[in-house]
Amino acid sequence: MPIISNKGINMPESPIRKLVPYAEAAHKQGKNVYYLNIGQPDIKTPQVALDAVKNHNLETIAYSRSEGSEAYRVKIAEYYKRNSINVSHSDIIVTTGGSEALLFTFGSIMDKDDEIIIPEPFYANYNGFSIASGVNVVPVISKIEDNFALPAIEEFEKLITPKTKAILICNPGNPTGYLYSKEEIKQLAAIIKKHDLFLIADEVYREFVYDGIEHYSILQEPGLEENAIIIDSVSKRYSMCGARIGYLVSKNKEFIKTALKFAQARLSPPTLAQIASEAALDTPQSYFDDVKEEYVKRRNTLITELEKIEGVKVAKPNGAFYCIAELPVKNTDDFAKWLLESFEYNNDTVMVAPAAGFYSTPGVGLNQIRIAYVLNEESLIIAVKILEEALKVYKD
Ligand SMILES: Cc1ncc(COP(=O)(O)O)c(C=O)c1O
Repeated sequence: MPIISNKGINMPESPIRKLVPYAEAAHKQGKNVYYLNIGQPDIKTPQVALDAVKNHNLETIAYSRSEGSEAYRVKIAEYYKRNSINVSHSDIIVTTGGSEALLFTFGSIMDKDDEIIIPEPFYANYNGFSIASGVNVVPVISKIEDNFALPAIEEFEKLITPKTKAILICNPGNPTGYLYSKEEIKQLAAIIKKHDLFLIADEVYREFVYDGIEHYSILQEPGLEENAIIIDSVSKRYSMCGARIGYLVSKNKEFIKTALKFAQARLSPPTLAQIASEAALDTPQSYFDDVKEEYVKRRNTLITELEKIEGVKVAKPNGAFYCIAELPVKNTDDFAKWLLESFEYNNDTVMVAPAAGFYSTPGVGLNQIRIAYVLNEESLIIAVKILEEALKVYKD
């Protein structure tokens, strides 16, 4: 039989999706499953975006330019200006989701065996993109006790080697919900400049920041023009995960020129989805105000309910729509499977994402789960109740 690549063998399974067969089996047993595991918001896509797809007058769905339609990129640049980020359309490449923006970025700035430092826990697919690109993730551990704040900058400095090409942060964070402060971004900027590295910020949750705290983007930080790369996406911002549109943004012309070659190799981002995404930029502010209010309510309810359970520790998130909870169990992978296979409470059960997959250090995060608060408050209360009842009977 022909042999599969080592890269393929080492490619990690998604910790979020790997439990899907267990959930399907639970359904077949007649159980109702509350999904706390996946970042698919239940929020409606803005009407302007839906209408744009319904009413387009294309006669041929042709390729667009590899960097994305110019009209769309001009409007994206205006969006950034409204967010105090001064970029022009030529600093932007439209991609097939933030996922492709990450792949193009890794491909453009790193060679085989180069290193990228990432505070963990981190968005699990960073592991997959690193393996696909042949580069090594060097984790720096952030802690639940500190709410997953930026680890001390000396911890980063200790890990920098001649192979280090970049530091990657997710702000606000998936899976932590942590929002980096301006001060933390400034600390990172200083070390980035000192060692002449790239700073990649995955800012796909930029709008989802709470408690009156403002998001501070790496491209608002003066002096980082040559170093900063933003990863962005319409998936969560407009609840348009299936549109598959994202973008990468940088003032570094050499980087953009290089990433464009990757974009040319895959020809074009999706044309119809660019029409929807361009229209989404006209979404009224009231949409975001309502969405934010909803997420704040959900977060508060979720945290309050979780904190009532004995032995559960939870970090309070200021952004995105995730939180990490520590459970009084040894291994949440086993616990999550058991919830689906062997547990029910009033014929209901719950699906959670074991957090070990969000770490690259083996053995860390084994007793943690990630919860996405993408369900309404009533469902969240039921889901946490199921967790509480399950923890009473679960035996490691
Ligand atoms: C932190 C983060 N970055 C990037 C992505 C990729 O999203 P997409 O490819 O849908 O834009 C996601 C999706 O969940 C995410 O959570």
